Parts: sequence; structure tokens; C-alpha cells
Amino acid sequence: MSENDKIEYKVTLIGNSSVGKTSLFKKITTGEFSDKNISTIGMDKRTVQVEIEVQEKDKNVTKSIDISLVDTAGQERFKSITKSYYKESDGILLIYDITNRESFENVKNWIDSIYDSLGNQENSKYIIILIGNKVDLIGVEDYKRETTEDEAKQKCEENNLLWGGECSAKTNSDSELLELIKGYVKKIYEKVGPKIVTKQVVKKIAERKKKKGKCLFL
Ligand code: GTP
Repeated sequence: MSENDKIEYKVTLIGNSSVGKTSLFKKITTGEFSDKNISTIGMDKRTVQVEIEVQEKDKNVTKSIDISLVDTAGQERFKSITKSYYKESDGILLIYDITNRESFENVKNWIDSIYDSLGNQENSKYIIILIGNKVDLIGVEDYKRETTEDEAKQKCEENNLLWGGECSAKTNSDSELLELIKGYVKKIYEKVGPKIVTKQVVKKIAERKKKKGKCLFL
């Protein structure tokens, strides 16, 4: 790995409509949260940079990683667009709403649709992390918990998923959520290894960004 090489992972957020994918995506990438419900049309993509500690030859080393986060639409009519991102992703964040049982029950359908799209050979190098969102709503107005953490952990065991924990796009801070993302990226690193974008590719991406007049987002 040369000085200019970069490690980059593509991480895609999926899950039922309204579980809070866009809210998590926005909080992580801009620090903002809105109570407005505006359904995603198609997809959105932004890059965040993180540093993670990994073990290399019995030593702790710090790696700088670009995470290309992809926010997808949960509505059925956008399913084919969402599916087209599975193949190029290194990891999937599968989100459900802990106050909405249906979004939890539907996790199995999301997993099936991922494996349908990937085909068998690619399953082994793929990482799917299950995350329960909207934990702040418990006890607020008529909202109540409709899934437990134990059930979620069991679903992970049955379906070969990693348990990513529960969170809130509303009350967790952007830095808390970024810490969670760093934990997930570490798991991706351990599973898929350092996926390096070489110098030439980095240069091409930089040129593309320059043409678009953007400095951070692809
Ligand atoms: P689609 O784009 O249709 O797939 O939905 P989505 O999964 O991106 O959901 P979105 O982020 O648009 O959130 C739906 C609604 O839930 C919005 O009104 C958000 O403000 C609200 N919401 C999202 N996350 C949270 C959360 O953690 N807590 C609370 N209280 N509300 C949330």
C-alpha cells in the first residue's frame, strides 16, 4: 500500500420505508435531524472519513478509511434501484424501527432480496449489520417497544447477521453515531480486508470531483 492509496468501503443503508435511514444518514453526514417525513426517491450518497485502530502483525495501527454511505429508498416501487447497490457494497446496514413490528418482521425479506441479487459465491465476503432505530420513542405518547434486543440478537444468529445495536437518529449525537459506524467499519475491515483504491483511481475520483465542483461528496 503506497502513501497515496486509500481504503474505501461502500456501505448501504436499507430497510422498510420510514424506519429512519435518511435520518441516520443525514445525522452522520451533516449532524442534522428533522421531524419531517420526506420519503427518499431513488438514493443519495455521501462520503465520510474515519480512522480506525486495527491489529496488524501483532501491532495496533491506525487506518484512515473513506466510507461511501448510500441511503436508499424503502418504498416497494424503488426496490430495483435499491437492489442494484447490493453488489457494489462491502457492507449493508439493515435498519428497522423498534416501535414498528412489521419493519422487524420484514428483515428476513430484505436478507432474501440481498442474497437473491448476489448469488451464492458472494455471500461469504458480505457483511450485514442489523440496527434498531428510534429508541428515543419508548414511553413517548402512544409509542411502545414492539421488538426486544434479545429477539433482534436471535434473528442475527439465525440469519448470519451482525448485531449493530439500538440507536436514535433523533437523540444520539452525530459523533455517537459515527462511533457506531466506526465499529461497523472495523467489522467490515476484519471480514473483507483493506479494500484499497489505488493512486490512479484516487486521482481519477479527485478529477471527477473537481469537474463537479465538489470537494467531499462523490
Ligand atoms: P424512506 O425514505 O421512505 O425509505 O424512509 P426512511 O427510512 O429514510 O425514514 P426517514 O429517515 O425519512 O424517517 C421517517 C420519519 O421518522 C421522519 O419523520 C423522521 O423524522 C422520523 N425518525 C427517523 N428516525 C427517528 C428517530 O430515531 N427517532 C424519532 N423520534 N423519529 C425518527
